[in-house]
Amino acid sequence: MRSDLGRYESVRASRAWWDAEAPAYAAEHGAFLGDGLDDGALVWGPEGWTEAELGLLGPVSGRRILEVGAGGAQGSRWLASQGARPVALDVSHAMLQQSQGRSPSVPLVQADAGALPFADGSFDLACSAYGAIPFVADAGAVFAEVARVLRPRGRWVFSVTHPVRWAFPDSPGPEGLVADRSYFDRVPYVERDDSGRATYVEHHRTLGDTVRALVGAGLRVVDLVEPTWPEGNEALWGGWSPLRGRLLPGTAIWVTQR
Ligand SMILES: C[S@@+](CC[C@H](N)C(=O)[O-])C[C@H]1O[C@@H](n2cnc3c(N)ncnc32)[C@H](O)[C@@H]1O
Repeated sequence: MRSDLGRYESVRASRAWWDAEAPAYAAEHGAFLGDGLDDGALVWGPEGWTEAELGLLGPVSGRRILEVGAGGAQGSRWLASQGARPVALDVSHAMLQQSQGRSPSVPLVQADAGALPFADGSFDLACSAYGAIPFVADAGAVFAEVARVLRPRGRWVFSVTHPVRWAFPDSPGPEGLVADRSYFDRVPYVERDDSGRATYVEHHRTLGDTVRALVGAGLRVVDLVEPTWPEGNEALWGGWSPLRGRLLPGTAIWVTQR
């Protein structure tokens, strides 16, 4: 259902939803995200491309890195294994708990990405794999917070669902190949309980909206990576599938710099 939803209601709904869904999310996707690997993995999206393969952050050894919407902190664990000093931040306590103490050296911070509890210039780099941005009403407010806690020239690299997918049914089969709604419709997708309270939310912004929000936050767009669906990845993840992945972009990875 599409209906309007403000900043605080979005954060409340997301925290409750991800707290409730954390064990199921870990059971379904944990292995794909690197739970079984000693060093974890920073996986940019359902295509399966990792930071070890794409190198979008640049050198990470010795760098202070903020992972936003870190979930089970698999990405932060990988960064730590590369000699970085990551902090894993998420609005959901239960999602962070899925890291199950696998890397005690990685600090876990429960907070909203729109109000980061860090001093200006605290980090050399920031990253997010599908964390926070699709779920917040005001992406510009998050970008401004990330820019504030980054040092000058620090990179902010984040992945989100490619916005063209908004125009298609969220289905992995052939029915997901026929556009049935407007790419330009910014009314968020919201699920509500019987009392009308929002229980799940996703916000859509076009490519142009994201460029404007990034530039408005003082960030420079360095690259927009649209990863292809790799041969050999037969995994389904919600509406992501080999069938659709061969025809449509599924993920947008924004590479930006303060
Ligand atoms: C799709 S999961 C991605 C988790 C992890 N990065 C991964 O690749 O599996 C989205 C994450 O964003 C977090 N999130 C949602 N809204 C947030 C907010 N306002 N601030 C911080 N984290 C948020 C959720 O709790 C969840 O852990």
